[in-house]
Amino acid sequence: MNDEPAGFGVYVHWPFCLSKCPYCDFNSHVRHAAIDETRFARAFAAEIAATAARVPGRTVSTIFFGGGTPSLMQPATIAAVLDSISQHWRVAADAEITLEANPTSVEATRFRGYRLAGVNRVSLGVQALDDRALAALGRLHSAREALDAVAIARSVFERYSFDLIYARPQQTPQQWAEELKRALDEAAEHLSLYQLTIEQETPFATLHATGKLVIPNDDTARALYDTTQEVCAAHGLPAYEISNHARPGSECRHNLVYWRAQEYAGVGPGAHGRLDIDGSRHATATEKRPEAWLQRVESGGNGLITDDVLTREEMADEFLLMGLRLAEGIDPARYTTLMNRSLDPARIAALREHGLVETTEEGRLRVSMPGFPVLDAVVADLAA
Ligand SMILES: C[S@@+](CC[C@H](N)C(=O)[O-])C[C@H]1O[C@@H](n2cnc3c(N)ncnc32)[C@H](O)[C@@H]1O
Ligand code: SF4
Repeated sequence: MNDEPAGFGVYVHWPFCLSKCPYCDFNSHVRHAAIDETRFARAFAAEIAATAARVPGRTVSTIFFGGGTPSLMQPATIAAVLDSISQHWRVAADAEITLEANPTSVEATRFRGYRLAGVNRVSLGVQALDDRALAALGRLHSAREALDAVAIARSVFERYSFDLIYARPQQTPQQWAEELKRALDEAAEHLSLYQLTIEQETPFATLHATGKLVIPNDDTARALYDTTQEVCAAHGLPAYEISNHARPGSECRHNLVYWRAQEYAGVGPGAHGRLDIDGSRHATATEKRPEAWLQRVESGGNGLITDDVLTREEMADEFLLMGLRLAEGIDPARYTTLMNRSLDPARIAALREHGLVETTEEGRLRVSMPGFPVLDAVVADLAA
């Protein structure tokens, strides 16, 4: 894996879930009344048209339906959004089109419809292969149901991935190694493995603050991280990003667009984008609240609430922050072009001496294995 021709990604956000998981701070909402998907599809079409008017002539290399829970959308709604995208941009013949799905039996019944609509990759939120852990995470599915959904995904799509959350309360490295090996038996080419994060203003944050939810301490978390790297590498799915593992060549191309600081459009409530217009990079964000987003799009043609031109420094910081998450690291020459100065050789030398970064034979700078658990500090040091 190495730098590929610039990609253009389209992210589509579906902001609804059947229930809110107590650890999650994504832009997701529970609604008891039926969602008017036809109205949403019209609004998506309008926002896609408005975005394409700003960045015409692109070739879309990846599309990602994220959430929330996009697997609650009707296949016809997915088809309508894909149709809108291809009316305004050329979509590459080999475009990667991913949909995030929750692994319940109801959602798995829609997989064939998504395939027919054009989706060629699913990412399933399995989270754990242990029913007690799933209940503690507030999930609506059992481990069996999740594995059944994985089997259906395998039979329907060319490519699939699933997510697990580790560093859960009371989890030991030994238990995690066993669970991960079972997961790897079910995985094909890609796994996302996230360390449980206590996000502010979630029910888990309250439980954590009052001592009712105890997560592994730093040493155990580190041992769990090391276990993850060893077990996955031994199964041929090394980390290509701090939380993502793939067989070489099977990385999620859409997420690589973000991590390689390439261009992408964000549509739907609370979606972010990075658009290159007249030589400037714009950071865009839309209204997060679904109904307010609909109203904004219906009255003004798009849901934008932020449209900022990034400064050189902001672009360079973002380039480091995103690129150093990748095992392939960054091309220092791109930093030099962005900032008009090179990265500080003395800082690189000091980090290298501590074993936190390394330079590849091709001259790329990357974070080394011991550096990943302290990635934020490494980036902050280089960006200073
Ligand atoms: C936006 S969620 C959408 C996936 C889908 N709705 C689901 O829950 O299955 C994407 C992934 O982020 C991860 N995630 C969300 N909150 C997290 C947290 N607090 N700590 C670690 N991982 C988290 C989960 O693994 C989840 O599958
Ligand atoms: S983890 Fe997934 S299902 Fe749960 S609230 Fe977040 S987006 Fe919704």
